[in-house]
Amino acid sequence: MSGTGGRWEKAAEAYATGEHKAGRELDLVVEYAAPTGKERVLDIGTGAGHTALALAPRVSDVVLTDPVEAMLATARRLFQSAGLWNAQFVRAGAEQLPFPKASFDIVTTRLAAHHFDDVARAMREVARVLKPGGMFIFVDTTAPEDSESAAYQNEVELLRDPTHRRIYTERAWAAFIEQAGFRVEKTEVVRKAHDFEPWLERGGEDAATQERVHARFLDAPASAIRDLEIVVADGRVTSFTDRKLVLAARR
Ligand SMILES: C[S@@+](CC[C@H](N)C(=O)[O-])C[C@H]1O[C@@H](n2cnc3c(N)ncnc32)[C@H](O)[C@@H]1O
Repeated sequence: MSGTGGRWEKAAEAYATGEHKAGRELDLVVEYAAPTGKERVLDIGTGAGHTALALAPRVSDVVLTDPVEAMLATARRLFQSAGLWNAQFVRAGAEQLPFPKASFDIVTTRLAAHHFDDVARAMREVARVLKPGGMFIFVDTTAPEDSESAAYQNEVELLRDPTHRRIYTERAWAAFIEQAGFRVEKTEVVRKAHDFEPWLERGGEDAATQERVHARFLDAPASAIRDLEIVVADGRVTSFTDRKLVLAARR
């Protein structure tokens, strides 16, 4: 994944100011982490850094990783504006983390795993860099159990953003994590409503592609209209709602 080019700068800015800034799933990350102030934290697929930003004032230090340089530059700027200096910014993909084993007390990844090329390998990397007894907090969108609406969800997500890989069901995400040697301690699934136009724009594709995604939403199967709560007004899609899994696991 290249770290340069206007697409990434635009996407980084959209992540900085858009709906990633907040949400019940982000509050739960902080609650599950229950930091004492002494922890060393790794955030994977940090984007504009909102998860690391929420934790940084409450822990010893945070390391933010992302394969895209423009994301790290945006996160660095947000940390500077917040007056937070206990952070390091490292360019890396989740599948190959440039840290020795047992380096961190807490590892987080929020809304990034559906971009990973190899989720199983990434989960093994998390297990390697976490200290024994350390906590992994995972957040990502879940696919509906219904196979038709799950396939539809992955199709429109990929059309809207070609860096999308795959959204899995809650059970499949948890299985990846358990297979890497973790014990799942807590899970919660929260609904997240998306205003349609900003969601489309964050994908970073041209107007014609955005229109194709919109057309596909108008043409969604009944199962997806139900599972993704697609709302249409005056012939335009205005919103849809998906579900985020928040999961805490220990090594
Ligand atoms: C939606 S953003 C993440 C939002 C952020 N975690 C937050 O809490 O605000 C998804 C991020 O995943 C990153 N990403 C893509 N492929 C990745 C990979 N293989 N490993 C790690 N991160 C990846 C993207 O560059 C992007 O910054």
